[in-house]
Amino acid sequence: MTAITIALTKGRILKETLPLLSSLGIEATEDMTTSRKLVFDTNRPNLRLLVLRGIDVPTYVQFGAADLGVSGKDTLMEHGGDGFYEPVNLGIAKCNLMTAGIVGKAPVTGRLRVATKYVNVARRFYAEQGRQADIIKLYGAMELAPIMSLADEIVDIVDTGNTLRANGLEPRQQIAAISSRLIVNKAAMKTKHSRIQPLVDQLKLSVTGIE
Ligand code: PRP
Repeated sequence: MTAITIALTKGRILKETLPLLSSLGIEATEDMTTSRKLVFDTNRPNLRLLVLRGIDVPTYVQFGAADLGVSGKDTLMEHGGDGFYEPVNLGIAKCNLMTAGIVGKAPVTGRLRVATKYVNVARRFYAEQGRQADIIKLYGAMELAPIMSLADEIVDIVDTGNTLRANGLEPRQQIAAISSRLIVNKAAMKTKHSRIQPLVDQLKLSVTGIE
């Protein structure tokens, strides 16, 4: 039988993905949240799970190194979406992609500096708004950038808002509502259709409850 590989996003998304897979009867043979392994066998023959950093999931699926993936919409927006379909909104890991700045500080009207790991999303967003922005790439702790005058605004994920509040920042504009999506490599959808389509259908059913 053809092997099927699903690339999962580690961290918060993984914790919410595992119960979904369980609802389909798919269980890893060891605890994925604590193991240092990157590839996991499951109780289903020829079904493997990978655990990757979020931004690498679309890349694995794009090139067919994984057949399916679970990825945040923020990551998919940043990646661009070449080479895969996005058939199911899994409705998990919901949050918002926002701009944010220092509480009470008037937004910059002219050219502004924006710190983010979402450089493509930020570039598009500010351009659509007709605002001139220099985008500064950071890999984490975006909230520090306005405090240290590295940037006027940040573009980042906001869930509870606690991280913004704890650092004296406030949300400004919503760029997109975010949740995790199932993605499928376009070629695999054809060549492994008989194994992939049932997984897509079961996941759809599991998240909507409607056949
Ligand atoms: C995200 C994001 C914020 C925080 C927002 O980071 O970058 O820092 O969560 O959540 P809150 O509104 O509930 O405080 P995450 O913890 O996912 O780690 P990351 O920076 O590695 O993405």
